[in-house]
Amino acid sequence: MTETKSEWNSRSAFILAMIGSAVGLGNIWRFPNVLYSNGGGSFMIPYIVSIFLLGISFVLVEYAVGFRFKKSIARILFTISKKLEPVAWFVLFVVFLITTYYVCVVGWDLIYVVLSFTKGWGANPDLYFANNVLHATDSVSGIFTIVPNVLVSIFIIWFIAWFINKRELNNGIGKVSQILLPLLCIMVVAIVGFSLTLPGASIGYTQILTPDWSALGNAEVWLAAFGQIVFSLSLGMAIAMTYASYLPKGSRLVDNAVIVAFSNSGFEVFNSIGIFSILGFMTLTSGIPFNELVTEGSGLAFVVFPQVFNTMGPAAHIIGPLFFICILFAGITSVIALLEGVCYSISEKFLIERKKTATVVCIVGFCISTIFATGAGSTILGIFDGFLNNFALLFAVLLECLIFGWIYKFDDLIETLNEHSNI
Ligand code: PHE
Repeated sequence: MTETKSEWNSRSAFILAMIGSAVGLGNIWRFPNVLYSNGGGSFMIPYIVSIFLLGISFVLVEYAVGFRFKKSIARILFTISKKLEPVAWFVLFVVFLITTYYVCVVGWDLIYVVLSFTKGWGANPDLYFANNVLHATDSVSGIFTIVPNVLVSIFIIWFIAWFINKRELNNGIGKVSQILLPLLCIMVVAIVGFSLTLPGASIGYTQILTPDWSALGNAEVWLAAFGQIVFSLSLGMAIAMTYASYLPKGSRLVDNAVIVAFSNSGFEVFNSIGIFSILGFMTLTSGIPFNELVTEGSGLAFVVFPQVFNTMGPAAHIIGPLFFICILFAGITSVIALLEGVCYSISEKFLIERKKTATVVCIVGFCISTIFATGAGSTILGIFDGFLNNFALLFAVLLECLIFGWIYKFDDLIETLNEHSNI
């Protein structure tokens, strides 16, 4: 049995859900490192070019397709040509697998939310992360040892995702985005404001202001900019298409795409000012060179930041939890977005109601995620991440470009986009 088609009840619900899908771990811990290692201030040029050339353009294609067909990606590709339906299931499979390990990283963060109130990671955060959180083993036999605290936190994140995704669109994803996104913004403003008052902050934030113009001639810098936009705006994962299919008639698609792309990039640039300032403080107080601190991924969040909080004094009891709660909120809004496209396609194809689909998808997802709660979890996660993000996701983006730019008549979509937009 299928329910009547869901529709966003307000423009803000749609925009905030879209921003929530984009703002995630990529914005908080990936971007500062990409910015730093690709020329600092001058990186803004390829970055802005890639927002227009790839980011906004791709989001527009997904919006136009979703809005015009008002169906899930599986049904849309089936409608264009029966032969294309497997492409949709390939994209959704990649998205689902990404979700299984993304949940694990959000789970690690949940552990750090709890630890941060008491600086429970102790004097050696690097050892704590390796021995008490990951329990990483070198051998494959690590797969048979379960790490209970990671398993519990993965379960909690899947449970939260299930609880939100099973609900009607506006009561679930819409409402949660309308609550979490404003809170996230307030917390980030507080963190950045505080970080700018720290001694040594200028060592950090001047890195963003000091451009290395020679980097602009380097093709890899341009590639890094485009890669960051794909990751950060969650391109190619059918999220924008899914969310746009729930838009009511008369929606201003182009205006919405521009708002979402700039909010996402504004968030990551603004957040970097805070991250860099905090790392500048660490350089001043500990003497560790700045370039050794700007790592990316879990190393930055779960090792370097706890080290910084250890040197910060009492303020760390507030800034620490705020930092990890920010990652948690950003992560949850991305997880529910990743799942929505998968659930929607399954429900529509097999005529199963939303609640049941979400339940089955989350149970299967949790079972797969348990691999990451083992001693070999972090190694397997690295392999998943490397393959899915560097290869499968880019392949999905390419396939969508070919299908919607070539096979499907793109000119029709331009009409759909312009119909009600001001921009
Ligand atoms: N864009 C989000 C982020 O930056 C979501 C995302 C999830 C992106 C998984 C890529 C892979 O975290």
